[in-house]
Amino acid sequence: MTDTTQQPISIDGPIRLLGIETSCDETAASVVESGRKIISNIVASQVDIHAQYGGIYPEVASRQHIITIYPIVEQALQDAHITLDDVDGIAVTRGPGLSGSLVVGLNTAKGLALANQLPIIGINHLEAHIYSAWLDHPERRTEDDPKFPLLALIVSGGHTELALMTDHLEYQRLGGTLDDAAGEAFDKIARLLGLDYPGGPAIQQAAIEGNERAFSFPRAWLENTWDFSFSGLKTAVLREVRRLEETNLPLPINDIAASFQAAVVDVLVNKTLFAAREFKAKDILVAGGVSANQLLRTRFEENDEFTVHIPPLVLCTDNAAMISGAGYYRFIAGQRDELDIDALPNWPLSEI
Ligand code: KG4
Ligand code: ZN
Repeated sequence: MTDTTQQPISIDGPIRLLGIETSCDETAASVVESGRKIISNIVASQVDIHAQYGGIYPEVASRQHIITIYPIVEQALQDAHITLDDVDGIAVTRGPGLSGSLVVGLNTAKGLALANQLPIIGINHLEAHIYSAWLDHPERRTEDDPKFPLLALIVSGGHTELALMTDHLEYQRLGGTLDDAAGEAFDKIARLLGLDYPGGPAIQQAAIEGNERAFSFPRAWLENTWDFSFSGLKTAVLREVRRLEETNLPLPINDIAASFQAAVVDVLVNKTLFAAREFKAKDILVAGGVSANQLLRTRFEENDEFTVHIPPLVLCTDNAAMISGAGYYRFIAGQRDELDIDALPNWPLSEI
């Protein structure tokens, strides 16, 4: 069984961690120094493979990870001009994610750790998305690091989570989606409109030519809770599409995409700002694949109450730099995991 030791230790000099990420459809490895400096960051996306199925095919994903993982790790080390002798540990995604995919990254990390006598640190993928905001990058928008108490919104293909971070590694979950995750809603509506997978970028692209006021789709505010729901919106779009199809006129895809995107963004932005006021947060942090959405970024940036930390586009979607980044904070807190740790496909942020 898992036996995780956690004892703060004192450290001099930079800490260099190899990060490995295989939770979904990206095979990724990275070397990061002290949770901040990206030395190398390699991502092999399986998007083209899954696009033909219109979504992720779990067996195909894990087989692809098996084929790609070692060359990707090699490349991350080569790009960093180092070998495993020069790293202090291996941070690896333990969950949440697809179990068959997680196991590939975990087993790789365990094998490398054993062969090179390195510690491994199992990382929660949602926590890693959060730590992408601490990474240095030429396109980083905020000079200062996020300040606590920090209101964090994580919006990805599998999650929509609102949490208050009182300090490093300290989370109080406020709410999350009751049904579809924000990214999942983008993916499903894109599919309905005949757009490509993944749906988020495709909807964003279609929306550029559309009028967001063409359709007034519902916003589920779920007042008195910090939860979200996108199923009513999804049904409303579906109904509208079916109704329009009966007219035999061409489907106004751009207008539907723009109106749908506006509805999702409206709820995400307003609820997050409201929560930040309510919990007296100093800053806001937005991360995860959907935080790559241009309208979401613009709407957050337009607020004049809070500094909003949103990672550069390349660090919003899945990558391993964020795994090494979160790994650093876990490493300096003393976390070292045993080599028999299991994948945790449903690991909530509140239970790290
Ligand atoms: O964080 P991520 O790469 O993987 C998960 O951890 O799930 O997020 C992927 C999700 C997909 O649902 C994708 O459609 C969405 O992020 N996404 C976007 C955009 N880019 C990616 N959603 C809206 N607008 C975008 N530009
Ligand atoms: Zn993710």
